[in-house]
Amino acid sequence: MTTPGFGIYVHWPFCRSKCPYCDFNSHVRAEIDEARWRRALLGDLTHAATLTPRRRVTSIFFGGGTPSLMDPRTTAAVIDKIAALWPVAEDVEISLEANPNSVEAQRFRGFRAAGVNRVSLGIQSLVPADLSFLGRTHDVDEAKAAIAIATATFERFSFDLIYARPGQTTASWAAELREALDRAVGHLSLYQLTIEPGTAFHNSYARGNFALPDDELAGALYEQTQAFLADVGMPAYEISNHALPGQESRHNLTYWRYDDYVGVGPGAHGRLSIAGEKIATTCHRSPEAWLSAVETVGHGLDSQIAVAPDERLIEVLMMGLRLAEGIEVDRFVNELGRQPAAALNPKGLALMIDLGFITLDSRHLKATVDGRQRLNSVLEQLLP
Ligand SMILES: C[S@@+](CC[C@H](N)C(=O)[O-])C[C@H]1O[C@@H](n2cnc3c(N)ncnc32)[C@H](O)[C@@H]1O
Ligand code: SF4
Repeated sequence: MTTPGFGIYVHWPFCRSKCPYCDFNSHVRAEIDEARWRRALLGDLTHAATLTPRRRVTSIFFGGGTPSLMDPRTTAAVIDKIAALWPVAEDVEISLEANPNSVEAQRFRGFRAAGVNRVSLGIQSLVPADLSFLGRTHDVDEAKAAIAIATATFERFSFDLIYARPGQTTASWAAELREALDRAVGHLSLYQLTIEPGTAFHNSYARGNFALPDDELAGALYEQTQAFLADVGMPAYEISNHALPGQESRHNLTYWRYDDYVGVGPGAHGRLSIAGEKIATTCHRSPEAWLSAVETVGHGLDSQIAVAPDERLIEVLMMGLRLAEGIEVDRFVNELGRQPAAALNPKGLALMIDLGFITLDSRHLKATVDGRQRLNSVLEQLLP
């Protein structure tokens, strides 16, 4: 079995402005008291360490929101605190999500000095009109400049693009992908645009203000993306994530392999193995509620519940089948106490194997490329 990871997720919930497609826990505030936020994050970490003593940290991830709006001194204080609370692997991966605005790019050296060794940039598009459609506050030149600074500053870096945008064709996406690949170093996240309830896009899409590619075109764009990236040696290791071998995000692999992780900050989730149970932790979602909880009771947890056995099976499958490597049978047995063939619906499993959506051998349960494209239907068949 591959060595289990143990990750720490730190949520920074603030953004300069709210993008119309985004349903992440991100908020715009005129002012924040950063020293107070820093103290609260350190407090929440101290509490989390009491639940997970002696675990060896293999990755730290600053996500958001926009963690690149953080003062690098806050980032440094969090990293130092983690090192004081847990043993940390020598080759720990420390990632930070950054927006490619020029102001933030100027802070990259500060983040590097704090210990960050991997940056993930939200480029979203290399087409000017589409950046405005997506409500981004950066332009294409700023994006390219931020990529250059990130490449020069960090050992590892990745960027995100959103595709299946209104008006996109396979030809225009191919040209954009080529441009992206000229600048990529080892890792790219390529997400299909989804319309999420509660976002500005949800309303304007419902009113017919824009149209999205139909299912056929969206499918063609997905297949084109997979083939294009595989050709250049960066195959999808997860539905939307592509990497050169060895450049996968170890932190995200920790989620998908259903290994343990701590989540601190507003709305952060965790999964912790304690006394044979898998404990799901959730922090208060609103920034102010989380801050006040840490300041009054010493932690930001809103709930801490053991995952029920049937839920645990669903979570293992939902996470692991996203990965090209699938789910290790040894991990599956460790987590669920049964072989996949005993835990899954025998008829559904046989059907999914017959249709070429699933493979199962003595080492791995995997969804094939076709299976990963229709994962929800595959999951329904596999569940007892
Ligand atoms: C937490 S967000 C981004 C972090 C950073 N604040 C930024 O915007 O660059 C992570 C990524 O999810 C993707 N994303 C967010 N909402 C999406 C949506 N509705 N459809 C597709 N991708 C989305 C974007 O590519 C984004 O960069
Ligand atoms: S996409 Fe990034 S910058 Fe935009 S609102 Fe979401 S978290 Fe904030």
